[in-house]
Amino acid sequence: MAEGTPPQVPEEGRRLRHLVLQHERWRARETINLLPSENFASPQVLRYLGTDLARRYTLPLDQTLHGERVDNGYAGTRYADAIEELAARAAARLLKASFASVRPLSGHVAAMSVLAPLLPRGARYLAVQPEDGGYDGYAPGYLPAVLGHQVLPLPLHGPTHRADPEEIATLLRRERPDALVLGQSFVLFPYPLKAIVESAHEVGALVLYDASHVLGLIMGGVFQAPLDDGVDVVFGSTHKSFFGPQGGLLATRREDLFRQMDGALIWRVLDNTHLNRIAGLAQALLEMERWGSEYAPQVVRNTQALARTLDEHGFPMVGAAEGYTASHQAFFDGEALRARTGMGPAGLARRLENDGLILDLVGRVGAAEVTRLGMKETDMTALGELIQRSFRGEPVAREVRAMRQRFRSPEYC
Ligand SMILES: Cc1ncc(COP(=O)(O)O)c(C=O)c1O
Repeated sequence: MAEGTPPQVPEEGRRLRHLVLQHERWRARETINLLPSENFASPQVLRYLGTDLARRYTLPLDQTLHGERVDNGYAGTRYADAIEELAARAAARLLKASFASVRPLSGHVAAMSVLAPLLPRGARYLAVQPEDGGYDGYAPGYLPAVLGHQVLPLPLHGPTHRADPEEIATLLRRERPDALVLGQSFVLFPYPLKAIVESAHEVGALVLYDASHVLGLIMGGVFQAPLDDGVDVVFGSTHKSFFGPQGGLLATRREDLFRQMDGALIWRVLDNTHLNRIAGLAQALLEMERWGSEYAPQVVRNTQALARTLDEHGFPMVGAAEGYTASHQAFFDGEALRARTGMGPAGLARRLENDGLILDLVGRVGAAEVTRLGMKETDMTALGELIQRSFRGEPVAREVRAMRQRFRSPEYC
């Protein structure tokens, strides 16, 4: 640094503070979030995220060191370990599992935590690919490349991404893969799961269900119950349709698989498990146990109402004949949207962002977060009108802020 130049830290610190506060005011208070990948954690969850747990470690071990039995790498973990156990038990209850781990740090890390220990290098699995609404992480260059697996596309059909169980059975018999990975980033309807699981198990393939998007709906009992239908492992993110802090989890009824996954987590996939996140997750899981049966069906009703109202306002949506959706997301019909309005989903999202209406740029719209904030079907109709007026160029930012003010803090908690 040149002599006489004042240090940049205070200025950068002020700028940082400004940016954080601006973000907080904009996204947490002034805008309406219709992204299906996000949700709104409760004040108690946020409080736990900011506790002393945020700076601690626990490292369960099973070792003899210097002639002594060592069950943890650290002292001082008595409360932290009990918190983790409470969270894992709640996750297992909600997913109807016998074993669960809340250690994975995210949905992607949960996928690694399942795939790495259960499938050896060279293993082959079927997974939905991005062109059919699958998660990009399962495309050949990503998780399969990192973990040394070969991925084969699991085909879905039509704009609503439907699975054909006969076709999947034929594919399974022909390819005889080691596993079948279900779950999508673009998801409207449940799979015909029992039939798929049956044909996968017939050829000895494990069925692994990435529930990142639909976890809150599964836990709330409205989408499908993967473990009841014979799925071997369910895993995913905890912050999309489920309103937890950002993170991941996995669950199963099979002790052998759980031991394999749990035993491989520490030092292969991760080390620190972020104990503050786990405390926040435990709280969110307890909220889900208490309120999930009211929250989850409302999410689906709101998403259907939002899709319908958008369609009626001239934004073509896919799946009208099928009721649009049975999940927390609906899709714009991108080509029809462009033909009708002259802009695709990205252009539309950019325009609406100026008025504080936050949609994703890849064609999905979701109602999980607005449901968490207490909105109902009539509010979806009001949102549809705001979206249409914003699209027409009317300045509706003030009305969006006023609506957001009426739905300031989360319900179902
Ligand atoms: C199906 C699916 N799996 C995994 C992930 C990754 O989740 P995370 O962002 O929590 O790592 C996503 C993210 O969008 C997803 O849609």
